[in-house]
Amino acid sequence: MFGAATSSYQIEGGWNEGGKGWSMWDHLVRTDPDHIADRSTGDIAANSYHLYKRDVEMLKELGVSIYRFSISWPRILPFGRHDYVNPEGVAYYNNLINELLANGITPFVTIYHWELPQNLNELGGWLTEDIVDWFGDYARVLYRNFGDRVKHWLTINEPYIHCNHGYSRGNHAPRIRSPGIAFYECGRHILLAHARAYHIYKNEFAFQGGQVAIVISSDMSMPSDDSQSSYEAMEDYRAFYVGQYMDPIFSATGNYPQRLIDRVARASANQGLSESRLRPFTQEQINYIRGTSDFLALNHYTSKFVYRNDSLNGTFEVPSHQDDAYLGTYPDPSWMQGGTWLFAYPPGLYKLLVHFKEKYNNLTVYVTENGFGNYTTGLDDENRVTYLRGYINSLLDAIDAGVDIRGYCAWSLMDNFEWATGYTMRFGLYQVDFDDANRTRTPRKSALVYKEIIRSRVIDPTYNPDPHARDDSNSAIVVKTSALFILLSAFVNTLF
Ligand code: NOJ
Repeated sequence: MFGAATSSYQIEGGWNEGGKGWSMWDHLVRTDPDHIADRSTGDIAANSYHLYKRDVEMLKELGVSIYRFSISWPRILPFGRHDYVNPEGVAYYNNLINELLANGITPFVTIYHWELPQNLNELGGWLTEDIVDWFGDYARVLYRNFGDRVKHWLTINEPYIHCNHGYSRGNHAPRIRSPGIAFYECGRHILLAHARAYHIYKNEFAFQGGQVAIVISSDMSMPSDDSQSSYEAMEDYRAFYVGQYMDPIFSATGNYPQRLIDRVARASANQGLSESRLRPFTQEQINYIRGTSDFLALNHYTSKFVYRNDSLNGTFEVPSHQDDAYLGTYPDPSWMQGGTWLFAYPPGLYKLLVHFKEKYNNLTVYVTENGFGNYTTGLDDENRVTYLRGYINSLLDAIDAGVDIRGYCAWSLMDNFEWATGYTMRFGLYQVDFDDANRTRTPRKSALVYKEIIRSRVIDPTYNPDPHARDDSNSAIVVKTSALFILLSAFVNTLF
């Protein structure tokens, strides 16, 4: 199944319409506008709150069978808690879901893509265990309202990125800088909240017959050379930034990776602490979290080499997860670069999927994000075309190697608000004109190439569509129909 992905804050707009409450991103862009690269906001974004029918039309044009989108928590529960459900918010997503189904497109719904209601943030957000209740209650509202039609639920998007940017680097909402403590607390509560939402579904909504999964981001990591220290550094990279979130759910032991436990415990002890900054799970919690994902929803963009040597001495803040992990990473300079962190290495996806298959016992995978972002606009996005072909090819190799891959979603259906980089970084298959009040969407070359891959099930490197020639199949039909009409009228005229 091929698809395309988006998230609510990044495309919807309608930030204070239809009874919606404030999310922590609404709060950030108003209180700290200079933090966003172009001082932009998601207030209007691509205006999908009003243009969702056009979005579905684009999905139809592409010929995808999946649309992965997210629900804005404060649009459904303006005050965060489940004691007031906003009917207009429910109506918006009902309309979207119904429009998708009417067009034969399966919704994959992300429950949480970083839009925490601001008042829950003020009560502690992801740093308090209360969020396990809040999140579970919110998920229940969604299952109850949409679960008759939504059969694929994605609980939480990218725990590592959310905790690293939001609670460690302070680059995303809620802009907390606590790389040694909050970073781990955030991850811990995300795992517990995810498990709560999973159990609520299985205990109360199993009759709906759907599946529930967590969305994990993972780069492919490789040792920078064949030394033992590089190999160890790579293993630590995997333990800290992937295994921290995956192992408790997908591994047989159901706990954090031992390397992670040991390294944080040792660093904490060296810092004079009597307990590890990575709080251990109780056996009960381990049992509660283990096995709570019906498949792996994987977001993958890039790869890196990992090393550990003396050049790292003194480079990390103490305490921090960077210091705990104590490793360096870099991309191969020959890889095609998009945004600052995005380097294309298509075989990385194949290697990662084969690694996961071996490590996590043949798990089932949907790639829920993969795409190329850069700082250029325009319709001739050759780089994105190259990226897409390379990565889909790599996915095919993984299927040949026996990985159980069920679906692939390109990020993103259209240009959108790329968090702290605002609208400067573009990922869209469709270009969005943010200067135009209508937020006109136009297919880029990559959209046409993706469409042809989906139609033909073949990656043809010689296929070279012109995104400026506005003769796509719909208008071609119009032209042909009117030509036929003219001919017919000419013929009718000769009769009389
Ligand atoms: C991951 C996130 O889920 C999404 O919100 C973001 O826009 C893309 N990656 C690209 O950075």
